[in-house]
Amino acid sequence: MEQCAVDASGPFSTPRQTADPGRAALLDASGGVLRAPVDRRGPARTEPAAPAVGAGAREWHADPYAAALRTGRGPLFLRRGDGWLLPLEVERWCAPPDEADATVLARCRGGVLDVGCGPGRLVAALAARGHPVLGIDVSRHAVERAVREGRAALCRSVFDPLPGTGRWATLLLIDGNIGIGGDPAALLARARELAAPDGTVLVETAGTELDERVVVRVDDGRGGHGTPFPWARLGTRALLAHGGRAGWRAVEQWRVGGRRFVQLRRG
Ligand SMILES: C[S@@+](CC[C@H](N)C(=O)[O-])C[C@H]1O[C@@H](n2cnc3c(N)ncnc32)[C@H](O)[C@@H]1O
Repeated sequence: MEQCAVDASGPFSTPRQTADPGRAALLDASGGVLRAPVDRRGPARTEPAAPAVGAGAREWHADPYAAALRTGRGPLFLRRGDGWLLPLEVERWCAPPDEADATVLARCRGGVLDVGCGPGRLVAALAARGHPVLGIDVSRHAVERAVREGRAALCRSVFDPLPGTGRWATLLLIDGNIGIGGDPAALLARARELAAPDGTVLVETAGTELDERVVVRVDDGRGGHGTPFPWARLGTRALLAHGGRAGWRAVEQWRVGGRRFVQLRRG
């Protein structure tokens, strides 16, 4: 399958084991599902050695993700080796922005870079509001869909050379995209390079306080899955700590409809 070029550098830590394999298809406190509803591949296996930061970019090309983007529907999950599943909200990503997204759009200033834009619902809404906006995503299928619908999007990793480096007034890491690369410190440092000196980054954080690096696969819950890649999930407190170390300072935190967001400004 044709892929974007990706960078593959940097370290990655091993996943935390939090699943209770005795509880089937049960939502955990942070929005994951403890155990697959359907697993035709036997008991959970030990994860292979974790890939490097950026390596995960390729695995978002996995067929289950492409298929879900084609139909605009799940089910789709990020699946950990022990059976834990994080549902992915493909339907929401393929729909117009919702009420929570609107609070993000309202905080965007100037030129906006949407990192991990998927099919580009936020890119479309920002363009309609008159922002210069670019979406980037490593999924060729996501970018093709975005471009087909008239959205400005590039098939590129956030760790690749990008247009406007050092000049973006606003960066977006929405829908859990702080997880990209599995190393939030590296991603926030990269975001700082991309941002203008007074630029901001708007980040969606997890529903609970966690600071987790995991190795996952894209999984359709019916036996179809991609290859393992690093991902991260951060609650607000962990984001603020990582952000501070990467040269970002907190501007605002807010919640809408169960989703949480933080605005950071380049320090
Ligand atoms: C959780 S989904 C977010 C969906 C998206 N915001 C939307 O509206 O559809 C993560 C997205 O990040 C993309 N991605 C993963 N690694 C990336 C990287 N290194 N650079 C840019 N995008 C990446 C994936 O292809 C996927 O579309």
